[in-house]
Amino acid sequence: MPAFRAPRGLRDLLPPERQGLARLEELASKLAARYGYRPIETPLFEQAGVFERGIGEVTDVVEKELFLLQPREEDGERWALRPEPTAGIVRAYVQHGMQTWPQPVKVTMTGPMFRYDRPQAGRYREFWQFDVEAIGDPGPAVDAEIIELADRFYREAGLQNVVIQLNSIGDPVCRPAYVAELTAYYRAHAAELPPLERARLERNPLRILDSKDDALAALNAAAPKAIDRLCAACAAHFAGVRAHLHAVGVEYVLEPRLVRGLDYYTRTAFEVYPAGATGQQAAIGGGGRYDGLVELLGGRPTPGIGFGLGLDRVLLALEAAGAATNGELAPLAVIVGSAPDDTLTRLRLATELRSAGLASRAELGTRKLGKQLEAAARDGAHFAVIVGDELSGGNVQLRDLEAGTQRAVPVANLARELERASRTHRHGLAAAGGTAGAPDRET
Ligand code: HAM
Repeated sequence: MPAFRAPRGLRDLLPPERQGLARLEELASKLAARYGYRPIETPLFEQAGVFERGIGEVTDVVEKELFLLQPREEDGERWALRPEPTAGIVRAYVQHGMQTWPQPVKVTMTGPMFRYDRPQAGRYREFWQFDVEAIGDPGPAVDAEIIELADRFYREAGLQNVVIQLNSIGDPVCRPAYVAELTAYYRAHAAELPPLERARLERNPLRILDSKDDALAALNAAAPKAIDRLCAACAAHFAGVRAHLHAVGVEYVLEPRLVRGLDYYTRTAFEVYPAGATGQQAAIGGGGRYDGLVELLGGRPTPGIGFGLGLDRVLLALEAAGAATNGELAPLAVIVGSAPDDTLTRLRLATELRSAGLASRAELGTRKLGKQLEAAARDGAHFAVIVGDELSGGNVQLRDLEAGTQRAVPVANLARELERASRTHRHGLAAAGGTAGAPDRET
């Protein structure tokens, strides 16, 4: 047992897994750019109040899952690791006067989030989200555009069968009456509520509806539904969202019990699940409208909508579906040589190839050629450049390790020859034999 280990619920992402995540990150940023979203980066931790006020005091995320940092005496500030990106992005929107920018401000961020939750499969204390926010547009068209973007991300990532659940949870006009009705409903069933939920009954009954506790399933199924209590404006908005979703061909199911676990939502709310999966831990994404959040964090009243997709869970779902999770690696050439001590020539050749934009690794040890070639093959290298006596005549041998073919190539043409040969090779890390068994991806 090693003396030091990664903290519970946090993982080391080893190269194959990091590679899979990098593929999703790249897809996310390119896709968001295709829709006009620009990157933003906010700090990994913020004043705890950003989350307490933004997400809501009576939520699991704030009550139970916030990673609070030990304050240092000199600043006395309470900091918390970000459990999600939206509150921090909205804080930045207010702080930097982004309401004076052309609206909506469309931003995207991908990075780690931290929740002190009980770790289990698919639920980590550090996890990665692809987040998108459109701040300053009341919708409903942008709501549909955002949901369509989420839907497209899964498909382009390789997950074909996802289910989008959709609901509207009203606004400050219609929600108070609904919440009062919900409170009365749960009060009448107080004896059936577990202690935590009973304590929340008067402060935030929506959280009971959102409970992960199986014992509440029947009670929650029979609870009054927000969708039946929408005011005229919210009903019209929701009809608009659905019409726009229809126009862009996005399929979804209506889920009247969907309320989301964060307090800032108004109107549109949605979650995404792999087909056949149920239960909150299985959600691979979620989002919705937060028309009160900018004001709550000190800005002018400004509508907003966004989503966060759980990339760790997308990778798990891809693996479960037997789909490829690895990105493509540039074909790699390894420079080996029959004179083990001549590291100088090998390093020089590799450096020249890298300058020409090619991926190469030189054998920098002094083992024998046979061992060098074995290591190159184990590494998943696609080519070996073999330096031997012919170098004095200006040639090296270029071996295609996969095809098993070999030919002499003038050193002066090596980069061009490798470039040409590389175009026929496109491999994922799986070809290196070092992955968790994911199939190779060929294009
Ligand atoms: P959320 O539903 O709390 O929403 O999280 C979004 C996604 O993050 C979830 O659907 C899930 O895939 C993933 N996720 C959450 N917790 C964990 C965990 N402990 N381990 C692994 N994955 C997890 C939000 O965070 C909102 N900020 C989304 C949003 C953006 N709404 C508007 N704009």
